[in-house]
Amino acid sequence: MSTLLRDFWYVAMPGKNLKMGQLVGKKMLGDPILVGRREDGQVFAMRDICPHRGIPLHHGWIEGDGVCCCYHGWKFNTEDGKCSHIPSMTEFEQLDIQRIRVQSYPCREVQGNIWVYIPSNFNQINQLELPPVPLIEGFGNILPQISETLHFACHIDHAVIGLMDPAHGPFVHTSWWWRSGPRKFRVKEKLYEPVPMGFRLVPYDMPVSAKPYKLLGNKVSIEIIFELPSVRTEILRGDRHQACAFTTVTPIDETQCEVHQSLYWTIPWMGLFKPILRSLTLQFLGQDRDVVIKQQEGLVYNPPLMLIDDADTQAKWYYRLKQEYSQSQLEKRSFKNPVEKRILRWRS
Ligand code: FES
Ligand SMILES: [Fe+2]
Repeated sequence: MSTLLRDFWYVAMPGKNLKMGQLVGKKMLGDPILVGRREDGQVFAMRDICPHRGIPLHHGWIEGDGVCCCYHGWKFNTEDGKCSHIPSMTEFEQLDIQRIRVQSYPCREVQGNIWVYIPSNFNQINQLELPPVPLIEGFGNILPQISETLHFACHIDHAVIGLMDPAHGPFVHTSWWWRSGPRKFRVKEKLYEPVPMGFRLVPYDMPVSAKPYKLLGNKVSIEIIFELPSVRTEILRGDRHQACAFTTVTPIDETQCEVHQSLYWTIPWMGLFKPILRSLTLQFLGQDRDVVIKQQEGLVYNPPLMLIDDADTQAKWYYRLKQEYSQSQLEKRSFKNPVEKRILRWRS
């Protein structure tokens, strides 16, 4: 049985990586998926396999509202995947080409990311009311100043747990600019509560002494939300400005995934520091990626793994949320969030 959750929106790529008229072939949750942008800017997604002879459609090109296959030029509508033209056909043919179809996937561009909805059952997809695309509240139509994608050679679960793991910071994220020098461990104590499809760190005010936060104002609060399948939103709200780190993980298949991170902020002159912030983001995510590569060396032996309280409690919640989600789908009932409000304590 697959351990990847379907019936969710997943980020395919940052919008900036898909130019007008461009086609990109991706694998998402094991499905071959074509993502494209028409000349009018509209994004779309469909199965990346030509129904004629199986060649991936990303080798073709976009023509108006259709995608043309590179092999025999069959054209498919970007909205519904229906075939609209077969160049080799003569008027003597009886074939109803409208009945030839490529499976299309719902696709939207929101706050600078391109999302594709991966259904478990394609027959239900049109009737089904799709859930809304995850949205960073209070940021409107803002585009990310920085958005980066990294390939992680591990199952999505290890990437997600790595993102919410509060204990690895002092060991993995060491560098001259971040927690350099001797490790000073302090007890952290934070309140968490359930949100519809996950949990969040209940917002609290940051100590005003911390310099970088001063850029946002004199009073700055932090909130961190995690929701299924793999969406982490960290928002800093100040009385002058706000900033957000938005991270999602998209499975490629059962053995690898992509981590997409977008940074948003409302401080105009911060644009000057984009190159620095971008390289810091890549360095930070790269450290997370490198540690899971090392982890794979051990995981090939399929060792039993441990989750301890409270440092790994969020990881435990993640597995429970996933399990409850799968169970609720199986039993065709509504999802009951298994997380309860509580304080977590750890040293880091
Ligand atoms: S294989 Fe695509 S048109 Fe023939
Ligand atoms: Fe990390």
